Amino acid sequence: MKDFISMLDADRLFIENIISLSAFLKEKVKKGENYRPLDGFTAALIFEKPSTRTRVSFEVGVYQLGGHGVYMDTKSSQLGRGEPIKDTARVLSRYVDLIVIRTYGQKRVEELARFSTVPVINALTDEEHPCQVLADLFTIWEYKRRLHGLKVAFLGDGNNMCNSWLIGAAYMGMKFYAATPEGYEPLPLYVKKAKEIAEKTGAEIVITRDPVEAVKDADVVYTDVWASMGQEEEAEERKKIFMPYQVNSGLVKHAKPDFLFMHCLPAHRGEEVTEEVLEGERSVVWDQAENRLHTQKALILKLVRKVKP
Ligand code: CP
Ligand code: NVA
Repeated sequence: MKDFISMLDADRLFIENIISLSAFLKEKVKKGENYRPLDGFTAALIFEKPSTRTRVSFEVGVYQLGGHGVYMDTKSSQLGRGEPIKDTARVLSRYVDLIVIRTYGQKRVEELARFSTVPVINALTDEEHPCQVLADLFTIWEYKRRLHGLKVAFLGDGNNMCNSWLIGAAYMGMKFYAATPEGYEPLPLYVKKAKEIAEKTGAEIVITRDPVEAVKDADVVYTDVWASMGQEEEAEERKKIFMPYQVNSGLVKHAKPDFLFMHCLPAHRGEEVTEEVLEGERSVVWDQAENRLHTQKALILKLVRKVKP
């Protein structure tokens, strides 16, 4: 495995390795112990969309491992003036050991990976957000000590988070219920792939219109923004369509009493989630955000050092 550009690049063993390596790396940080196996390592961090968590956790993560990250955005690089991604891939490969990219279409990341001789990590596209799902699975594992058989309810837009989650849940044998309005379902490719994987792992993949069916006895209630980056113009229209899928205290009553509330953040209070649930005692969103750091460090080590389980 050279790149991590889709959740489909992973499998159960890979995810289990990431979880155990993340636990090891997190422990080091908590004890204040330095762990710098990547002395002199460099990474290019390309962001063609805004970011708080992903950018900072990658920059800090690379630094903590002993390396250096170079941040690039569209405006201040030649990407904004139309330099092809395939040329950027070959040039950056001559300078750095890893390329991380957040952009629009998945095809752009695929092309970058094809022309790059160093590993490429997808830091979010319109279709996927696989790094977030690694952090989410690790967070659930920390709280529940297992993933297989747990029920996850994903409410709202069948967006990039939902696509990547379908695959992650399928690999880990989870029950994944996505409740979305009509016309906002996850992409058929991901639903099909998830169902294929589920046949082997015992996962259950359900796409429904009914938020209560999704949340009923759920171990995890997950939501994300209703208008993703690039969909700002649709935001007002989406607010009306998605309101029945808001995660509020009425809806979460249907979940198990010890459910976890998760959100990749940034959150829009009063839209996809109420203040009460986001700040409530079942919310683990800050741990979830922290775990981006640990799981991405584990991912980098797996990709560049071929770390054994
Ligand atoms: N969850 C997430 O990817 O956040 P950012 O957009 O701040 O990176
Ligand atoms: N679905 C959101 C996730 C942000 C981390 C977006 O793409 O904007």
